[in-house]
Amino acid sequence: AIHPVVLCGGSGTRLWPRSRKAMPKPFLPLVGDRTLFEATLDRCGDNGLFAAPVIVTGAAHLPHVEAQTAGIAGVQVIVEPEAKNTAAAIALAAVRLSPDAVMLVCPSDHHIADVAAFCSAARSAAQLARQDWMVSFGITPTAPETGFGYIRRGEALDGGYKVDRFVEKPDLERAQAFLDDGGYSWNGGIFAFRAGAFMDELRAHRPDIAEAVERAVAAGREDGHAFHPAAGAFAAIDGESVDYAVMERTNRAAMVPVAMGWSDIGNWHALRDAREADENGNRVRGNAELVDCRNVLAETDGPRISVIGLEDVAVIVDGNEILVTTMQGAQKVGKLGGASNQ
Ligand code: GDD
Ligand code: MG
Repeated sequence: AIHPVVLCGGSGTRLWPRSRKAMPKPFLPLVGDRTLFEATLDRCGDNGLFAAPVIVTGAAHLPHVEAQTAGIAGVQVIVEPEAKNTAAAIALAAVRLSPDAVMLVCPSDHHIADVAAFCSAARSAAQLARQDWMVSFGITPTAPETGFGYIRRGEALDGGYKVDRFVEKPDLERAQAFLDDGGYSWNGGIFAFRAGAFMDELRAHRPDIAEAVERAVAAGREDGHAFHPAAGAFAAIDGESVDYAVMERTNRAAMVPVAMGWSDIGNWHALRDAREADENGNRVRGNAELVDCRNVLAETDGPRISVIGLEDVAVIVDGNEILVTTMQGAQKVGKLGGASNQ
């Protein structure tokens, strides 16, 4: 079986004011009526293919994690003493699992429309991971996004490709060049690793992180179904993402290409596109009246929204906060005072 390792970390300031520190993006029902976190677990619910999930999260998110995993048998939760980015978070799960376990690392804040395509890619990725490849899910890029990793397909492997080059978060000029090149995919942020092979690669490239995580697990304590790594050893870690710590440096990187209606729901624009549209392209949640509007996203938890004659804007009302933005402006929401001082 494949062991899903679900990462719940960041706070998602670009979906402010709906996503807030106290109730971040993974735990909100942003597309459909399941939260992104619940949908992540649902996708790995086929117990012919997947083992019970391991969830790696911070203490602040624990109440949400517990509430949203109540019905799932065998869940294990690893509670990070503090956030040290994804290399350390994945290593915690890798050290807790047996070395031969194949893990599928799943961010908890993505939307995936086609679950069957996801499962079939997971199968191919697991097969490569059993041969000690560090496997990422490759997504066909549609824009020169600078917030993603770019991977260049190399020679064909069984069920995927070798990755010749992995470039995390390039600048705009390089992102555009990768897009024009045609030989690059986005790294979808979903990875398959054999736990022992991941630790070997981490030890080769970032021995400091590998050793600190091993110490934190050795001195950790079990509490019901949650595991608490030792805070002292963990505090010493210099946090880095798995993309920089392992994927850019390893020569065992591979990818499986997958078309599964993937979105990282990075901002209100992406969220609009992931939601189902009415006949005018509008997406409305809550009490809103739109007249002569096209492709408008309107969402309120109370006060009525009324809009006339606008196109490609988002109007979001949450408690005492109101956000109005063009779709183009949506990527700057994290820079607003309201989003950064919540
Ligand atoms: N438990 C835990 N602890 N989870 C974390 C931590 C942490 O310290 N830091 C981040 N995460 C979780 C986030 O909640 C998210 O689910 C996932 O790990 C990825 O982290 P992000 O911070 O969202 O990464 P990113 O979006 O900038 O980049 C990654 O994803 C892109 C695709 O969405 C990279 O893998 C890119 O290469 C990739 O293209
Ligand atoms: Mg992300």
